[in-house]
Amino acid sequence: MCRLEGKVTLITGGASAIGEATAKLFTHHGARVMIADVQDDKGHALCESLGSSAASYVHCDVTDESHVRDAVDAAVSRHGKLDIMFNNAGIAGSMCMQIRKSEKADFERVVGINLVGSYLGTKHAARVMIPARRGSIVITASTMSVVPGMASAAYTCSKLAVVGLMSSAAVELGQFGVRVNCMSPHGVATPLATTALGMGVEELEESMHEHEILKGVRLKAEDVAEAVLLLGSEEAKYVSGVN
Ligand SMILES: NC(=O)c1ccc[n+]([C@@H]2O[C@H](COP(=O)([O-])OP(=O)(O)OC[C@H]3O[C@@H](n4cnc5c(N)ncnc54)[C@H](O)[C@@H]3O)[C@@H](O)[C@H]2O)c1
Repeated sequence: MCRLEGKVTLITGGASAIGEATAKLFTHHGARVMIADVQDDKGHALCESLGSSAASYVHCDVTDESHVRDAVDAAVSRHGKLDIMFNNAGIAGSMCMQIRKSEKADFERVVGINLVGSYLGTKHAARVMIPARRGSIVITASTMSVVPGMASAAYTCSKLAVVGLMSSAAVELGQFGVRVNCMSPHGVATPLATTALGMGVEELEESMHEHEILKGVRLKAEDVAEAVLLLGSEEAKYVSGVN
């Protein structure tokens, strides 16, 4: 069943891992996807593999408001509307676990991409979704938004703050029929996580599995994409303000 037939989606951080898996799943379900990222080669290669009618790429640094504004406008001018905004671009930063040794510049970089990037994506998606009186905005938070002490202060703050952004936007935009939700994955062996934790895919999955309640399965980017699909689709038409 095509759950996103005719839907237009913009995915930040769409060139890799969770964003990439979401782009693949969304196009499989009939959506047209615009991938916004700073990894231009990966983004173009992904679009080529998905087909030019289903996917297109736009260079977008989510910390730059003009890039985010232009990416949203590009999706609307190419496809006539924007149904789903997936604010997913993110970085782990230095993962320094000791605040006294952390660097202000690293804190600002993590918050700049993870939080300010999501704010800009939400702001510009709202700009085009409000007149349409519909839309779904999904932000990638993290289990770190509810469990402190497992990542750097910068990362934890950025992910807790996007939940605040989501709650505030959900209340404000609900009157226009626009839903806003967060999706909070646990550890997935993506380039972000393997680099931050200095582990290979197998080792990281093994170490995550040890602390997970559900045994016998490994969390993959594709599983996270299924949650985004649910939040983006009509099945979740009465779901808003949820992390
Ligand atoms: N992997 C995990 O364990 C995990 C767990 C919870 C949440 N997350 C979150 O999932 C999201 C996706 O991360 P991932 O694990 O797929 O990692 P990833 O590094 O594979 O993907 C992140 C993507 O964001 C892009 N990006 C980084 N800075 C950008 C910028 N300034 N502008 C535009 N794009 C930018 C990268 O180029 C990359 O394509 C992030 O928000 C991350 O914090 C990841």
